[in-house]
Amino acid sequence: MPKHGSRSLAVVVLAAGQGKRIRSKVPKVLHPVCGRPALLHVLKAAAHVRPDRLIVVVNHDKEALAAAVRSWGIEPRPAFVDQGRALGTGHAVMVAEKAVGRCDEVLVLAGDEPLHTGAGIAALLRAHRRRGAAATLVTTTLPDAHGYGRIVREGDSFVRIAEEKDATATERRIHEVATMAYAFRRVALFGALPLVGTENRQREYYLPDVFAILKEKGDIVGVMEADLGGGLGINTRSELANVSAIMRGRINSAHMDAGVTLVDPSQTYIDAGVRIGADTVIAPLTFLEGETRVGSRCEIGPSARIVDSRVDDGAYVQFSVVRGARIGADCSVGPFASLRPGTVLAAGAKAGSFVEIKASRIGPGSKVPHLSYIGDATLGRNVNVGAGTITCNYDGWEKHATVIGDDALIGSDTMLVAPVRIGKRAMTGAASAITRDVPAGALAVERSEQRVVKGYRARKAAEKKLSKR
Ligand code: UD1
Ligand code: MG
Repeated sequence: MPKHGSRSLAVVVLAAGQGKRIRSKVPKVLHPVCGRPALLHVLKAAAHVRPDRLIVVVNHDKEALAAAVRSWGIEPRPAFVDQGRALGTGHAVMVAEKAVGRCDEVLVLAGDEPLHTGAGIAALLRAHRRRGAAATLVTTTLPDAHGYGRIVREGDSFVRIAEEKDATATERRIHEVATMAYAFRRVALFGALPLVGTENRQREYYLPDVFAILKEKGDIVGVMEADLGGGLGINTRSELANVSAIMRGRINSAHMDAGVTLVDPSQTYIDAGVRIGADTVIAPLTFLEGETRVGSRCEIGPSARIVDSRVDDGAYVQFSVVRGARIGADCSVGPFASLRPGTVLAAGAKAGSFVEIKASRIGPGSKVPHLSYIGDATLGRNVNVGAGTITCNYDGWEKHATVIGDDALIGSDTMLVAPVRIGKRAMTGAASAITRDVPAGALAVERSEQRVVKGYRARKAAEKKLSKR
């Protein structure tokens, strides 16, 4: 097809392994790396080279896996092939033959290698085509190569891949390993695969055996070395942590390159896909997760967790948890605020210390500075909510709304028993339980009159003295 000159391309992503070493009920390829399932990273890299067909080989937990993949909306839409029993990576590619159809080229990727980038995959294809190779593989060097297929060379020239369990002691000392980013001429791949046997320690069909088979046949096998930062797969929990740290480093560098200050990148956790404007400063122990957008000139952290939220320019968030919320320009949040889903702070609003807000809109310039719970409420502009104020939004059965008009002053420790409306410029007296609507401009006080008992203390003391005699 025109995108690849005259050649058509199929990408086959392997995701059918049992993932025994990660010891999880969740399929290995669905474990998140910087907020995205490993397999999604791989599919995005694959989509970058615009294949004609995208095929995912599944089996273990295949419905959950396929459903997850469909929900990501990847283009071209992936086709799923059921491997049945996972008999090895060679077998997995074999069962995809029909789905590959007559595509000229086949790119094979593993769902457990999230560090390959779209640009890296494109470079692999270019190198493969330039050399006119039958097969080209990407290798990388790992400080700890344990578990991987080692690249055995004679001089500079590639000979074969020795899997960990089959390698000799000398081969195990090799640090250059096979990734599973492979480009093939389709005919060469499916011509060699039937020659792959299971004469190895794991009794599996090893896909990497095709390289030695092609090489022996006299075909050109290309090798491309890639720097993936010292990690590769997520076969174990420690590899998952290592690969996540590498990915985090890349994400953090990209933000710094784009003009974001990270006070300490080693203590900053930003998911893939999060967007941050220039001149924002991120202090340590900050977690920006999911679909989060942060504007320019913000100050975020120390210690902020912001999930699926939007923070506009110039806002300030510290020591707080924010989920599914919108924080307007120049707002101030924290320390120790919890903004739950459906919270909207309009520009210049404040949610101060020990404040929880849920499903509420706080109007422009309005302040909830201390020790409050605001739920299912709508506040107008320039409202001031006194310390300790609570919207009593739940009567045990249903949630009810509180509406507070512009410029209202809510006294400290007011209980706003919803449904209730406080009019514009209205006030409530401290410690009032407000159960009825308050008209605009009025004061509502609900508490007994204060009594003053003069000389009480001295009289009480005298009484005590008498009774002790
Ligand atoms: C594989 C390679 C190894 C390479 C490493 C790089 C083989 C035999 N070894 O080892 O040379 O260094 O990847 O990461 O291929 N899968 C299936 N069906 C199967 C088996 C596996 O779909 O029957 C999938 C897995 O889900 C996984 C991928 O293929 O996404 C790789 O399988 P895995 O078991 O992780 O292979 P490695 O031992 O890591
Ligand atoms: Mg693996």
